[in-house]
Amino acid sequence: MTAAPSPHTEPGRCKRLKAASSRDHDSVDQLVMAARPFESRERYGRFLQVQHRFHGSLLALYQDRQLNLQLPGLLALSRFAAVEADLRDLGWPLPPRPQPVCATPAQALGWLYCSEGSNLGAAFLFKLTQRLGLAGTLGASHLAAHPDGRALHWREFVAKVDGLLLDEWQEAEAVAGAIAAFDSYRGHLRAVFADA
Ligand code: HEM
Repeated sequence: MTAAPSPHTEPGRCKRLKAASSRDHDSVDQLVMAARPFESRERYGRFLQVQHRFHGSLLALYQDRQLNLQLPGLLALSRFAAVEADLRDLGWPLPPRPQPVCATPAQALGWLYCSEGSNLGAAFLFKLTQRLGLAGTLGASHLAAHPDGRALHWREFVAKVDGLLLDEWQEAEAVAGAIAAFDSYRGHLRAVFADA
């Protein structure tokens, strides 16, 4: 993968990832709401465990040297530390560090697309945490907007991902990575809320 304009970037890789995974997004969105994570602090604590599993499994990708060369600033975008801070705020013990996901560099782009995009929907979730008396400074820091706003970081991330040169095989792998990421999120959600 190199950072050069690509003939495959029309109408934009992230737009294509969105189109390819929109059904997965909708099913995850519905599953999250069906789990009623904002009904009580106990349920929200479970939601944090889902987030811990998901963002924890992606930490190695955010820390990956090669991916940081391709997507400068990637490391600073991880929300895993904020999820851990939120768990501590709520008095939950920190679960063990999740196993890193296994992804090729092209698949990793799809995983990161899924994770970074989830920041947009987080605006809505963040508002719901206020019902529980939580805030960006207490228990909901991983859902809070960056001081520069959500849109700016998302646009920057999209521009970097869209600007990478991928071959057809890697394009398909990026899509597979995004779908695998939504699948994994669904799996974590089902597992954590199974007995709730
Ligand atoms: C109840 C839960 C969720 C709701 C209500 C929700 C809602 C939304 C909304 C409204 C947007 C579009 C925001 C905008 O364009 O400004 C969005 C984007 C997105 N969300 Fe979610 N979301 C939820 C959960 C998730 C989860 C758990 C993930 C990932 C695991 C996720 C991944 C994404 C991605 C990748 C995008 C970007 C789509 C694009 O390419 O524009 N969402 N979400």
